[in-house]
Amino acid sequence: MERQKVIVIDFGGQYNQLVARRVRECNVYCEIYSYKTDIEKIKEMNPMGIILTGGPSSCYEEDAATCSPELFKLGIPVLGLCYGAQLMQHVLGGKVERAKDREYGKTDIIIDNSSALFNGVPEKTTCWMSHFDYISKTAPGFKVIAHTDNCPAAALENVNENLYAIQFHPEVLHTPEGTKMLYNFVRNICGCAGDWRMDSFVKENISKLRERIGSGKVLCALSGGVDSSVAAVLLSKAIGDQLTCVFVDHGLLRKNEADEVEAIFGKEGSYDINFVRVNARDQFYVKLAGVEDPESKRKIIGEEFIRLFEQEAKKIGKVDFLVQGTIYPDVVESGLGGESVVIKSHHNVGGLPDHVDFKEIIEPLRDLFKDEVRKVGLELGIPEKLVFRQPFPGPGLGVRIIGDVTAEKVRIVQDADAIYREEIEKEAAAYKEKNGELPDWMPDQYFAALTNVRSVGVMGDERTFDYAIALRAVRTIDFMTADCARIPWDVLDKVTSRIINEVRGINRCFMDITSKPPGTIELL
Ligand code: XMP
Repeated sequence: MERQKVIVIDFGGQYNQLVARRVRECNVYCEIYSYKTDIEKIKEMNPMGIILTGGPSSCYEEDAATCSPELFKLGIPVLGLCYGAQLMQHVLGGKVERAKDREYGKTDIIIDNSSALFNGVPEKTTCWMSHFDYISKTAPGFKVIAHTDNCPAAALENVNENLYAIQFHPEVLHTPEGTKMLYNFVRNICGCAGDWRMDSFVKENISKLRERIGSGKVLCALSGGVDSSVAAVLLSKAIGDQLTCVFVDHGLLRKNEADEVEAIFGKEGSYDINFVRVNARDQFYVKLAGVEDPESKRKIIGEEFIRLFEQEAKKIGKVDFLVQGTIYPDVVESGLGGESVVIKSHHNVGGLPDHVDFKEIIEPLRDLFKDEVRKVGLELGIPEKLVFRQPFPGPGLGVRIIGDVTAEKVRIVQDADAIYREEIEKEAAAYKEKNGELPDWMPDQYFAALTNVRSVGVMGDERTFDYAIALRAVRTIDFMTADCARIPWDVLDKVTSRIINEVRGINRCFMDITSKPPGTIELL
């Protein structure tokens, strides 16, 4: 049976993936496509509904991003958001003009008319506005269904044609009723049944994977990160011992991490997986000895990883399929889906080797957003600690030690990082216990890095000349931009004093409060 889907047409706005995620939260499957996608292709996809996103253009300008007028005549419900709303009006004969002032931020909004779009939404509510242009004349057949002080047409509908336009952003949390509006559109107006659920995703995919793989052999590079772990368990449920997972301990993991990964996936763990652990710590340290340049370090780690992986693959013999942990944002950001620009391509040591002899790639998580991967992980019974793990770079502590890497520096940064994480987790858990939610300052990623700077200190009556550690903590949604997480001083104080007392080789802690940009999250 064909899966019901909604198409999100991307005009290059910053919240486009968020629109898709919110739709998925309504248990409706959706995909993002560029506004340049041919109308015939859209028709072929047979969507239940279409959502036009925001974007940076002004629709009355000559080279503005646009869409075919036919899009509004397919008999498929269309919802335009922000730029998408203006474009709908512009294309259908309304007028869009530049306003005197930009309307930006949380704005009071009045719902004027009952509309299926606002079912269950109070008459007075708040919305998130971000626009310069405004709809000065509605297109024929449209009726205004909401306004704000500065925006006479904050929402419009043409019920006969099933067309809806919203000037604000229902997808962001600052529009508290926004998800309800999107729900009303995809579930009630488009009539989607809400069959996109992670339990059925697991069931469906297990049988699809079985069918595709047959009796073939599958190889998976397991890093212990969320994506590769979820992919591995899903495949193992589907094909059992036809799967082999190779886990390379490059000696640059966090404290005890290699053993933790083995405890979950190895012989003693709860999965029946062919798990191969390659202990290559010394080999990596030898290769990295004396290398200071960050890019060279990344390259060495990546190449060494791939070589080891290939060696293991050879031992297995002919491999039919190789597993990749690609997830949906990777697909969108690599330009295959939406319109937003590619920001960076990371070197991921779980990446694809060139020389393994295999027939095909399997990407079992290709359709999923990160939060959906996590839900699948929980569905599969993977421990929460692993499912909600913060991201960890493929080259590991190699990019958290400035300068050359030695076993001693790895030990120092591992010990400091373990204390830092332990204290943050403890404080956050205590706060949650008391307040029912995590604190505002809770970072999305936090770690210790070695600065490679040594400075003078005093301990007991002794002069010390030891390393300084840098503590990093950031709040971020997409890891492309980030702000420093404002961890309370008393927590930092405790972390600092524990690190200096407990970690031999450190006598000073710095807090890195640089945002991204101009900094990056990792120090290298
Ligand atoms: P940056 O330092 O570029 O990091 O601001 C953004 C996010 O990506 C992670 N990161 C990596 N992940 N391989 C990875 O798999 C890498 O080489 C790599 N470098 C950075 C980083 O931890 C952060 O979450």
